[in-house]
Amino acid sequence: MSADPRDEMRRLVTRQRVIVCVGSGGVGKTTTAATLGVAAASMGRRTLVITIDPARRLANALGLDGLSHQPQRVDEVLLQRAQEKSGAAAAAPLWAMMLDLKAGWDDMLHRTAPSPAVAEKILENRFYRVLSTELPGAHEFIACEHLQHLASSGHYDLVVLDTPPTQNALDFLDAPARILGVLDNEAFRFFADKSQSLGLRFLDGATGRAQSIIARFTGGEMLEELGDFLVLLKDLYAPLTQRTKDFVQLLGGKETAFVVVTAPQTAVLSEATFFIEELRRRQLPLAAAVVNRLTPPPAEALSALERDDWDDVVVDVVGEADGRPLVAALDLAVRQEAALAELERRALAGLGQTLHDIPLVRLPRLTEAIHDAARLVELLPWLVGAAVAPS
Ligand SMILES: Nc1ncnc2c1ncn2[C@@H]1O[C@H](COP(=O)(O)OP(=O)(O)OP(=O)(O)O)[C@@H](O)[C@H]1O
Ligand SMILES: [Mg+2]
Repeated sequence: MSADPRDEMRRLVTRQRVIVCVGSGGVGKTTTAATLGVAAASMGRRTLVITIDPARRLANALGLDGLSHQPQRVDEVLLQRAQEKSGAAAAAPLWAMMLDLKAGWDDMLHRTAPSPAVAEKILENRFYRVLSTELPGAHEFIACEHLQHLASSGHYDLVVLDTPPTQNALDFLDAPARILGVLDNEAFRFFADKSQSLGLRFLDGATGRAQSIIARFTGGEMLEELGDFLVLLKDLYAPLTQRTKDFVQLLGGKETAFVVVTAPQTAVLSEATFFIEELRRRQLPLAAAVVNRLTPPPAEALSALERDDWDDVVVDVVGEADGRPLVAALDLAVRQEAALAELERRALAGLGQTLHDIPLVRLPRLTEAIHDAARLVELLPWLVGAAVAPS
């Protein structure tokens, strides 16, 4: 394996079909996904970045006013700037979209229903409307489904998925299997066919939420709509199960790379460690980790402090009254930064062990949050280094 982890990151953006950025809340998943997208497009790959996060951060970072469920083209000026920064030979278009839960389910239904009439009937059913938006894992499921659909659409060479902020990041990994478990359940199919109430009990067992959702409907109306729903759903078993199997296969396959994003704080790092172990346990393709917002070691400033006369130089320039407090403040600031950098370095030692031979890319803490495309481009050399032509 190459010594510079950025080489591996560059290899991922130039070769993979799917990259999934995962990690704890607030660590920099969206920033990393956007930067990987810019890197890939600037190296000539038609790239789509999908976010599920309703915050406007991805849009802002990519210089867009907002994002919608339809992929939007990112301004070519940004890509040219990225291309200049990385020295890549040719840029390809970059798109970004924000997955909308309702529109996502509706899209999928239109694609999977046996006929447009069946799709319309399901869309009108209130059980469908409530379950598709409120089932735990519904968002994650539809994100995986869209990821697979878009990655195999032929429009993009690479699709980067920015996963949502979640209390328990494993929800994202569990959702497909959970929903597949419901669809693939022979007994569920049998009972949905024969008996509405028993079918309902299976849904409840699978989700733990159906009961409270169903309680919103009145008795007679509930049974009627539920009956319709289960009958309609019967036509969807086979195509939905197939879709789910397709994306479970894509997520676990060679064309996909999971990138775990983390930050150099002990609590966040232990979540990352747990997450890495879970990815391995599930045999999902963990390809790299990114530790974001590292304190750059103030080596130059520290060696300047080693110069005996540096304080006298400051006092000479600024004067005794202002100079002495300034010297004390500078001295403290540099030593604190150095101590922080050292703490982070030690905290990261454990992560390195967990990762074994998986590359760990380090991104510095920039002085300001990344609100625009210019700042995002600053991270490029840290994330992917110098460009190469895609092979
Ligand atoms: N290297 C960095 N230097 C400075 N600011 C950064 C850096 N990386 C991210 N940020 C800022 O930190 C904030 C959180 O980053 P980001 O939105 O990428 O995290 P996230 O993991 O997607 O968060 P969430 O879990 O809430 O979706 C943003 O305001 C972003 O601009
Ligand atoms: Mg985010």
